[in-house]
Amino acid sequence: MPYSQIALSHRTYPEDMDALTDFACQAAHIGGTILCDYARSGFHIQRKNPIDLVTEADLRSEQSIVEAIRERYPTHQVLAEEKGLHTPNPSLYKWIVDPLDGTTNFAHGVPFYNVSIGLEYAGACVMGVVLDPTRNELFIGRGDRGSTLNGKPIHVSSIANLHEALLVTGFGYDVHTSPDNNLDEFCRFTLRAQGIRRTGSAALDLCYVACGRFDGFWELKLNPWDTAAGSIILQAAGGCLTNWNGVPFSIYEKQMVASNTLLHDSMLQVLGQKE
Ligand code: IPD
Ligand code: CA
Ligand code: CA
Repeated sequence: MPYSQIALSHRTYPEDMDALTDFACQAAHIGGTILCDYARSGFHIQRKNPIDLVTEADLRSEQSIVEAIRERYPTHQVLAEEKGLHTPNPSLYKWIVDPLDGTTNFAHGVPFYNVSIGLEYAGACVMGVVLDPTRNELFIGRGDRGSTLNGKPIHVSSIANLHEALLVTGFGYDVHTSPDNNLDEFCRFTLRAQGIRRTGSAALDLCYVACGRFDGFWELKLNPWDTAAGSIILQAAGGCLTNWNGVPFSIYEKQMVASNTLLHDSMLQVLGQKE
């Protein structure tokens, strides 16, 4: 299937990809340590909308990661969830940071969240790291090699039928007010799949498809920081990513279908069914 558009190749980059990857892991650990410290000590919470929260931990994690990037790679662009885009120079590199993916879980003391750091080169995702600091699980994906979990290679599952598949999804923060809220799709998949989960952390959802824990994931109101790292981790692990029409996925689009590749057409078919 000609779905994949992310840069899976052995091309060379002007900067050393091993050094960039090591740095991304260090930056993720900086953020992860901050999240764990706040989880122990407590934190203030503000509301972006009635159900969209931001905590002190989101802000401090982002500040520390962005400072580390600026110090090490002062010419690179940075897109971070809370403070937006920083473009010091027209660099071809852009770091895309979600300093705390899974804020609602974090705010309720549910230990399922992560730090997500992706890197684009010339507009294509080339490397991503996702750190789950409560389980000490570090996912790494690179376009020029496969994906790993704590250093061991990972691969998507081999489930080929929806009725044997464990799928995962999520809902946007406008779910109370928008008619385009994923509830119809949730019902349709519930009637077709073995099981459906909603974890509250899109980056980990993608990593879990990448390592075969889940078989597919869909969501319709995602942002680049939710998907930059996870998308390359999934693709480098043999997964497939498109929008809901089967067009190759871009992190700047809202809709995503992610699968082990074998289930992709079946998932697109369910999403395309109208009530
Ligand atoms: C959210 C989570 C959630 C997904 C939402 C995201 P945040 O990110 O990834 O699983 O359903 O669409 O916005 O706000 O916790 O960083
Ligand atoms: Ca997020
Ligand atoms: Ca976030």
